[in-house]
Amino acid sequence: MAILQPFFCDKSLPKILNFSPTCTTPKVTNLVPTKSKDLVSRSEKHNHKKSYFSVRKHWKKCHAVAEEIIGGLSSSASSDDEQGESVILSPSSQDEVAEYDWTEEWYPLYLTKNVPDDAPLGLTVFDKQVVLYRDGNGEILCFEDRCPHRLAKLSEGQLFDGRLECLYHGWQYDGSGKCVTIPQLPTGAKIPLSACLKPYEVRDSQGVIWIWMSHKTPSNAKKIPWFENFAKPGFRDISTIHELPYDHSILLENLMDPAHVPISHDRTDFTAKREDATALFFEVTERTARGFADRPAKENPCLL
Ligand code: FES
Repeated sequence: MAILQPFFCDKSLPKILNFSPTCTTPKVTNLVPTKSKDLVSRSEKHNHKKSYFSVRKHWKKCHAVAEEIIGGLSSSASSDDEQGESVILSPSSQDEVAEYDWTEEWYPLYLTKNVPDDAPLGLTVFDKQVVLYRDGNGEILCFEDRCPHRLAKLSEGQLFDGRLECLYHGWQYDGSGKCVTIPQLPTGAKIPLSACLKPYEVRDSQGVIWIWMSHKTPSNAKKIPWFENFAKPGFRDISTIHELPYDHSILLENLMDPAHVPISHDRTDFTAKREDATALFFEVTERTARGFADRPAKENPCLL
């Protein structure tokens, strides 16, 4: 897991952090909540939209070659979108349930400024491995991190004139995910239409690359978090990325648990003291299938 340290500076953070799905979430690694000073406007930040839809349209017509060859071995392409499950909306009523699909969200993937322009980057979002790279025009693209030929990881390949080249047999893919070069192809033979990559939609917002994980539901731009403070003139960015040796859910649970601070962090900074441990009250201000939000309250039955 990786996390961006100054993410904690934003005032909206408590709400964001507490807004975690109330259902059981899949395992996550390398999820990178980040920001940077490369602030962009709402209209500028969706500059990948057009290209993604042309890629997605193409991908829908084809299936990975390896899947056709080896049958059920790589069935994830079709099962990825079946991620919905029921979540309980109210702890006091088992009847208030709603469907929640974790793929129908944007997830922070990487700092835009840190995406290399000379090599593909392998990242993991929940249990999905993706490859992120800049094509010959500097456009950031994202695909499933496996070659449709023999399933090699494309992130271990290289960029060749803006095309993504698999390290195993040298198949090359253009920005639409279509295979355009197979070195071993006999002269005159056509590249199978099914030799194409599975695309993921990514967008650049406030200096962060966000990824939409659903292939079943069209992306919803309104779901990309917008951090007002980041957009203010003079906002100082000191973004860094920390790799942590555990799942993101561990840290989120920790950050949602202020009761531990006086004890666990006793004298480890300028404010935490174990004698300050006391009852903490919170008011739940929002509860939906996506999770809940709360804020400190003077008194409340919700005791942490
Ligand atoms: S596995 Fe990628 S080209 Fe063969």
